[in-house]
Amino acid sequence: MTAVDPDLATRLEAAGQGHLVAAIEALPGADAARLEAEVRALDLDLVVDLVARFVRGSGGHEAPGAVAPGDAVPLPGSASDRARAERVWETGEALIRSGRVALVLLAGGQGTRLGFAGPKGEYPFAPITGRTLFHHHAAKVAALRRRYRAALPWYLLTSPQNDEETRRFFAAHDHFGLDPDSVRFVVQGTLPAVDAESGQILLDAPDRLALSPDGHGGLLIALRRSGALDEMADEGVSTFFTFQVDNPLLRVAHPALLGEHVDAASEMSSLVVRKKSPEEKMGVIARVDGKTAVVEYSDLPDELAEARTADGELEYWGGSIAVHAIEVGLAKRVTEGGTHLPFHRALKKVPHVDATGRRVEPDAPNAVKFETFLFDALPLAARTATVEVPREDDFSAIKNAEGDDSPETARVDLNRMYTRWLEAAGATVARGDDGEPVDLEIDPRFALDAGELAERIPRGEVVSEPRVFAPVS
Ligand code: UTP
Repeated sequence: MTAVDPDLATRLEAAGQGHLVAAIEALPGADAARLEAEVRALDLDLVVDLVARFVRGSGGHEAPGAVAPGDAVPLPGSASDRARAERVWETGEALIRSGRVALVLLAGGQGTRLGFAGPKGEYPFAPITGRTLFHHHAAKVAALRRRYRAALPWYLLTSPQNDEETRRFFAAHDHFGLDPDSVRFVVQGTLPAVDAESGQILLDAPDRLALSPDGHGGLLIALRRSGALDEMADEGVSTFFTFQVDNPLLRVAHPALLGEHVDAASEMSSLVVRKKSPEEKMGVIARVDGKTAVVEYSDLPDELAEARTADGELEYWGGSIAVHAIEVGLAKRVTEGGTHLPFHRALKKVPHVDATGRRVEPDAPNAVKFETFLFDALPLAARTATVEVPREDDFSAIKNAEGDDSPETARVDLNRMYTRWLEAAGATVARGDDGEPVDLEIDPRFALDAGELAERIPRGEVVSEPRVFAPVS
């Protein structure tokens, strides 16, 4: 038995987490020290507050505010819209060239639905080369730096669960040819899962707490605590562009988003795609109590999700794809004094060990996890902008192992996009019996978009078998 520091024991008892004292005491020396260190690192005041609000109280079930449709710049329909969109695009490109943009990849999640062993970014999604998501994103970053002759520092949000492995992977791959100083890892915080009845913190193993990343909203506080916000400001970065590790389609540093962001003097801007149906499980851009916000699909009442305008369009059509342009100043302001974005609770099945050290594999949700969401910074912004992009060009997420939003759907979507690029460049692409084009890969360093591809391949190119378009090394 290992004695626990009496001070810590008193604090744990007062926080309703006295079972952790017993858990530490039951362990031999080194294991006890490990668990005690993990317990010391907890923000106990925050845990007490979250348990009081979300386990004992009615937190998470507050009445929603007054919801109204959001404003978004739709895809251009008319010639004058197109002329405006071109001007906005140039504004976005000018911002990138000015060196005031940083890129931020959210890669701290656990990817539980995909069920891949390892960080999701290491998933080999590419059909021919087996290239990983991290490699694909890194190639885009390299191509953007070359195109715009801009530093575009790249921050990756990791979590304690995957930080070491992610850094090791980048080092093992020579940072995919990027300057290692320009690839910066920022580790987000974690929060413990608590028992849904008692509010007691669960143990993942006798010497380990059941901790998970604090949600993608943890980005802002992690950027602040790591010094990244100051570093950005020191390097003249005013705006960072956030994107998700599991969307290989996206045009990173999207000029349409950055241009509207500048034009609207926005502090936080968002990309949306048109929802396929009222039932599609996507958060929508809306106005809540007069402020721009994302309303999660589970919080949007059916009658609003189904509401249509006179011309038959969904009132709430703008599905958020979690891509944002954010002012460094906003990130600094909302994290002042270590403030977190608002917490949300999620009821989950969390395997754990009980007080007797027995492994419990629950078959029903047994625990509450706490997370913050990046989009909750939107209502805190003085001004916002929202821009529609074509789903087929910018969004196909790898969430599940099979079915919707899986590696297979992303492969098909990416293949179709590359085929459109090739056909626009005057190429012919063979199709299989299922009508789908042959497998294609276009390395972002070969061509970042259709326009660049047209400059790189001869007109009349015939692609009759699976093909990788890559720069000659
Ligand atoms: P998701 O919410 O889809 O979660 O994250 P996930 O971890 O990828 O997958 P599940 O839900 O466990 O199956 C969307 C994006 O936000 C990042 C993820 O890495 C992904 O790029 N994210 C999520 C974080 O960076 N931190 C988090 O705490 C949660």
